[in-house]
Amino acid sequence: MLLEVKNLRIAFKVEGRLSVPVRNVSFKIDKGERVAIVGESGCGKSLTALSLGGLVDRAQISGTINGKPKISYIFQNPMQSLNPVMRVGAQIAESLGRNDKKEIEKLLLDVALPPETAKKYPCNLSGGQQQRVMIAMALAAESDLIIADEPTTALDVITQKEVLDLVNRVAKERGAAVLLITHNLGLVARYSDTVNVMYAGEIVESGRVETVLKNPRHPYTQGLAAAVPRLDAPKGVALYDIKGTVPAPTDWPTGCAFSPRCPKAEKSCFEPSFSCCPHVKN
Ligand SMILES: Nc1ncnc2c1ncn2[C@@H]1O[C@H](COP(=O)(O)OP(=O)(O)OP(=O)(O)O)[C@@H](O)[C@H]1O
Ligand code: SF4
Ligand SMILES: [Mg+2]
Repeated sequence: MLLEVKNLRIAFKVEGRLSVPVRNVSFKIDKGERVAIVGESGCGKSLTALSLGGLVDRAQISGTINGKPKISYIFQNPMQSLNPVMRVGAQIAESLGRNDKKEIEKLLLDVALPPETAKKYPCNLSGGQQQRVMIAMALAAESDLIIADEPTTALDVITQKEVLDLVNRVAKERGAAVLLITHNLGLVARYSDTVNVMYAGEIVESGRVETVLKNPRHPYTQGLAAAVPRLDAPKGVALYDIKGTVPAPTDWPTGCAFSPRCPKAEKSCFEPSFSCCPHVKN
């Protein structure tokens, strides 16, 4: 076991009100395992991921995190993480802990970037190239866990695939685990072994990817699965859309948080005494 999260809760005071964007979250990551957290915008995925590296400020955090892996992050917008006024080589040297030109050039080649990239500034690179620099920095830091938070949403489909293939290849070569944060179950199917489906700050379903995708039990997972575009779908059939939106974490609904949007909701789902979705109960 590389990392185990138990009953994680992250709360904030927002304009005098209590906001609890992450509630009772538990999952684990084994050494070298590829784990995903999937869910719509605002479900608490990034906060959960950031808390693993102690990167959440001004929050009341409770629960336990067992294990202290070395973590590298690859974010959706690499310009938020790269220093705009520092050359790429110098930034990789910082992760490496030494300014070794040969090692830096080897790391750049590992992520399919020419050695001259070391002399460039981040703004001289495309989005995909910036993501490769982030991956080279993760490699340099010799992390045990690479957290890729929506790393490809800003990229075109071909670059998306290249970047995610690269994350997987380098993680495999180094024996590092990958935590992929995404809203796209299609990417989970391709790049993860285990999946945690997150809705309204909670993990509503989890398991081996092939099991969950073959037989999604929670109505939210079923909705996400039905919303994945398929090449073999009949022409003219509109893509499934889960009705409504994720509520704000100051206003999670009473009972099951998904109840206002759930096509299978029953009376008991709206009761304050609700404990677990009948569709995922063993
Ligand atoms: N520092 C903060 N203070 C108060 N609320 C916050 C803070 N950071 C995030 N939140 C709220 O917590 C909720 C979950 O945020 P989070 O960024 O984890 O969502 P997410 O699942 O990663 O969404 P997305 O897919 O859009 O990135 C959101 O409603 C967000 O507004
Ligand atoms: S508990 Fe009820 S409302 Fe919630 S997901 Fe399950 S069936 Fe739907
Ligand atoms: Mg996020």
